[in-house]
Amino acid sequence: MNIVLLGPPGAGKGTQAERMSDRHGLPRVATGDIFRAALAEGTPLGLEAKRFMDTGKLVPDEIVEGIVTGRLGDADCRGGFILDGFPRNTHQAEALDRYLASRGGEIDVIISIAVEPEELVRRLTGRRVCGGCGANYHVSFNVPSREGACDACGGELYQRDDDNEGIVRSRLDVYKSSTEPLIEYYRPLGRLVSVDGSGSPDEVFTEISGAIDAATEREGR
Ligand code: AP5
Ligand code: MG
Ligand code: ZN
Repeated sequence: MNIVLLGPPGAGKGTQAERMSDRHGLPRVATGDIFRAALAEGTPLGLEAKRFMDTGKLVPDEIVEGIVTGRLGDADCRGGFILDGFPRNTHQAEALDRYLASRGGEIDVIISIAVEPEELVRRLTGRRVCGGCGANYHVSFNVPSREGACDACGGELYQRDDDNEGIVRSRLDVYKSSTEPLIEYYRPLGRLVSVDGSGSPDEVFTEISGAIDAATEREGR
């Protein structure tokens, strides 16, 4: 099963992709995480990506597309994958379609998670991320048992550089102008599922799981 998770910054793509990955045994391919990992290692890719991420702009298509098609070519992605944060514009969506077609595949389901902008700002400005395993927390909605430390691995929690209010608003603008049009790009396929992302993480996950089960049945897998 090849899955695309669409949604504005803070919609819960990472939170849900993590759970879906556990439930379905599929690798999660998250372009933002790939760039942050490259930056942590100080590679040229990471430093280049940082220039765009720090202002909330999109990293250029040719860079992102090369990384994603490279990653999807890995053995663990052959049986399916969950894309989190890619594609983010029509150019990337077309590149993905071409790449999948070249290996006889396609996107099986597109999950679009919607949340009101002010709620997104609250979620992102309060988010904390584990430097060890990447798990997400929130200072009020998803508090770790020990302040500043990850429940899963004990790693130190940090705030992303692009999670201050000014950059969050720029990221929301970029979503609106570049990424949201993908909903109409995918709609004609008949595989787009819109999910209300404003409930609790458990509620959202239940809705997504139902949509994936229905898609699995439809495809007869
Ligand atoms: P990326 O890392 O993908 O960030 P994003 O799309 O802005 O999304 P986020 O990761 O901020 O949010 P999320 O939807 O994953 O939500 P989360 O689960 O963490 O991209 C960062 C940058 O990289 C981009 O700006 C761009 O520069 C570059 N980039 C990446 N991909 C690119 C591409 N394809 N092309 C070009 N450039 C690219 O949840 C957020 C918070 O809310 C957390 O604190 C969480 O605990 C909390 N939360 C989650 N769900 C709920 C809930 N149901 N109720 C209450 N709180 C919740
Ligand atoms: Mg994310
Ligand atoms: Zn951790």
